Amino acid sequence: MDQINYCPRKTAAWQQLEQLAQRRPVDMLAQFEADRNRAADFSISCDELLLDFSKNLIDREIWRALLALAEQSPLVAHRRAMFNGELINTSEQRAVLHTALRRVDESLSSTSSGSSDRPTEDPQRAAEVQQQRRELTRISDKIRAGDWLGSTGKSITDVVNIGIGGSDLGPKMACQALAEYAHPNLKMHFIANVDGAEILSILRHLDAETTLVIVASKTFTTQETLLNAATAITWFESKLNLRNAHTSQHFIAVTASRKNALAYGIDRRQILEFADWVGGRYSLWSSIGLSIAISIGSQNFHQMLAGAQSMDEHFFNTPLRTNMPVAMALLGVWYNNFLRAQSHAVIPYCERLNLLPAYLQQLDMESNGKTMALNGQPVEYATGPILWGQTGTNGQHAFFQLLHQGTHCVPIDFIATANDALSNITHHRVLLGNMLAQGSALMAGQAAPEGQPHRHYRGNKPSNTLIMDRLTAKNFGALIALYEHKVFVQGSIWNINSFDQWGVELGKNMANQILDNDNSGPSMDTSTAALLAHLAKNIC
Ligand code: F6P
Repeated sequence: MDQINYCPRKTAAWQQLEQLAQRRPVDMLAQFEADRNRAADFSISCDELLLDFSKNLIDREIWRALLALAEQSPLVAHRRAMFNGELINTSEQRAVLHTALRRVDESLSSTSSGSSDRPTEDPQRAAEVQQQRRELTRISDKIRAGDWLGSTGKSITDVVNIGIGGSDLGPKMACQALAEYAHPNLKMHFIANVDGAEILSILRHLDAETTLVIVASKTFTTQETLLNAATAITWFESKLNLRNAHTSQHFIAVTASRKNALAYGIDRRQILEFADWVGGRYSLWSSIGLSIAISIGSQNFHQMLAGAQSMDEHFFNTPLRTNMPVAMALLGVWYNNFLRAQSHAVIPYCERLNLLPAYLQQLDMESNGKTMALNGQPVEYATGPILWGQTGTNGQHAFFQLLHQGTHCVPIDFIATANDALSNITHHRVLLGNMLAQGSALMAGQAAPEGQPHRHYRGNKPSNTLIMDRLTAKNFGALIALYEHKVFVQGSIWNINSFDQWGVELGKNMANQILDNDNSGPSMDTSTAALLAHLAKNIC
């Protein structure tokens, strides 16, 4: 399939789906009545993950048409191109190879074993990845063992990761999600926002002698990260009476630009690298995962990679109709492009996954929030949805009102673990019971009692349910890789570049112009000029 000439709307499957969307909406309860196998047939397992997608507004005809759309799109060729390291990030002429970072078990992915048709790994690239992983293991083991000493000879007790976007969200989410495995004597802190109140209030509680800062930035040019790093340097210098604190053992840089980290003054032995074919929002698997390995240990970090690899193998080798990321992506396309839903909610019933929606916002919205197709023409259909969410049961007491009785169609992913070693059976039963009740109630609805129309629940509201056996590092890795591939499949169908993020540049440039008092660009709009004048008068 030639991506330049491909347009999803011109495929026979898209046209069929448009017609199917004109029919009366699928009545899910009636479908379950008529089809005893629906729950089983609309479920997919992959290792310790189960996806039940039977509570969706599809029947078998719609499902077949969605699969046909995937087949008529460039998806399969595009997937091979990604795993093969081709330059599929066309606007930046880069490969997209986060999957190469988690190729930890060759027996799963080698063609010689006959178990996978996945392209073989470039040996030089594999050697570089292994070298970077060894370095991450060496450093994280040393810190965890208490052998990495600060400038006054004390072991590290607090690790501060300074980074933003992909250099923050993945590590922060993983450390929280995998708290079960956290080192008991090491506290992890994450600073992203350039809001000084964040860094200053965190540093206030730390002991500089036992604090280590990781400056995490793919480019090592990001304004927020460099300003926060500069504030941390000043703090160390004043607390420890040090000169050039950033050259001390209190600072490690993690970056794809060794040159920029060196120019910043970080000691060359304390720079961990990763390749520029690792996208920022896909970087938790790379050296950017250093804070994860420090918190949960390098072996658990390795398990996280192994879980992601098993999802990679599933995604690459499983037929489309039983392929978990493909199923989730196609359902998203059905709601987004044919039933005109504008948003998608992710609701984990696990408090330790409370950063997952924020993480997925970057993954999904930075990847697929695009208007230009790969051929440089504006798309004539909706692309990535607005993703949002929060944990249950908390969300039930906040926005679930809108899900049950509001006017918008919001497809939902419910996520839970069957077991939780950090909880107890009483709590976990109630938690899971609530999740199942919500999915069922949203679908079933309820007629209003006579004279009480406000108690009408329309029902027929769609959801996926994803259940992991436990929140292990392996299952967590598989879960994140599942969403990465879902986003990839949707980008392939919409024929957009899911791997650049030019949309964030304009605002960055304007911020710099405002901060530099630079009047050389287009003249400032009068609203912004008035706000600037107001601030100038009021800042004391
Ligand atoms: O501005 C967006 C972005 O480029 C993200 O894609 C990225 O994760 C983040 O900024 C941070 O970039 P860096 O890791 O280079 O500091």
